[in-house]
Amino acid sequence: MQFTDFWYIVAPSEQLRPNTVLARTVLGEWLAIFRSENGQPVALRDRCLHRSSRLSAGKVCGGALQCPYHGWVYDRGGNVIAVPAEGDDFKPTQQRRAKGYATKEQDGYIYVRLADTPSEEFEPFSMPHYGQPGWETVRVINRFANNVTNCAENFIDIPHTAFVHPGIFRNSRHQKLEMTVERWNGSVLVEYRNETSNLGWYSRFLNREGAEIKHSDRFYLPNITSVEYQMGRNRHLFITSQSIPETDNSTLVYTDVTYNYGIWNKLARPFVRWTAQHIIRQDIKILGIQGEAIAKYGTEFSNTPADTIHVFVESIRGAIARGEDPRSLPNQSVKVSFWV
Ligand code: FES
Ligand SMILES: [Fe+2]
Repeated sequence: MQFTDFWYIVAPSEQLRPNTVLARTVLGEWLAIFRSENGQPVALRDRCLHRSSRLSAGKVCGGALQCPYHGWVYDRGGNVIAVPAEGDDFKPTQQRRAKGYATKEQDGYIYVRLADTPSEEFEPFSMPHYGQPGWETVRVINRFANNVTNCAENFIDIPHTAFVHPGIFRNSRHQKLEMTVERWNGSVLVEYRNETSNLGWYSRFLNREGAEIKHSDRFYLPNITSVEYQMGRNRHLFITSQSIPETDNSTLVYTDVTYNYGIWNKLARPFVRWTAQHIIRQDIKILGIQGEAIAKYGTEFSNTPADTIHVFVESIRGAIARGEDPRSLPNQSVKVSFWV
């Protein structure tokens, strides 16, 4: 199994309008992304075969992509279908074909897979409750100056919340929490107990009735985290993030906040968006700081029991990095107490 076997988001569907081309980086590969005449997303290596201009700086006309330098035109298969300097003498040949990648469109996102022959046919992750009646989704996209592992770990890390998001999300109250952390089949499931309304001002809306909080965090291979909060009726929330590796220290994170707040669904949208973006900005800052120190001194970490989630996530991503299948790691379930 390789990281290139999986599907990575390159844009929300509505961002890739007809006759536009987007430049993206996934796992270090440069991509030019556009829609063919029939609307299908196309991903080509972002380099012209002629003299190496970037195709993403070109333009799309009739579903074909034209290089900005000398005007070579590429179809959805990457084949060169016009060379202006050859005029009427132009003849298409097999040799002139840009490298192309498989694409899919699902849940309002466009996905690209880099492997031509993956070890297994995976599907893009299905975003929880996306588009279902009674559920609203707010989407935000943010770039982090850190790697996928540290981003994913941050999104399901409780101990940082009191320090990085004071007041908004959680105040430090020297409260003991218990969690069960389970590694199974390439995923990590964390269930929290004893969690009361220690969630700062957000709780005034989220949990007015002081109902029991059900909170679980999940990591799915290779790059997905999903946080679920449920507090009584009509307060159900998923924060699902797909962390897309651009380079070793740049990750583009697509976050769906999908919630069911009953009659408040529509009214809550701007509030949900503002809160999500505010919290994420604080995480971008701290992950950037961590990224700088890691670039200089590496990732010799010193873990506490509260970091068990991260150890499991690292074991899964580490296995993929070695070309192994993390689903064959032994199942493990650990009960951990920690203080927040
Ligand atoms: S470099 Fe692309 S057409 Fe010349
Ligand atoms: Fe955070």
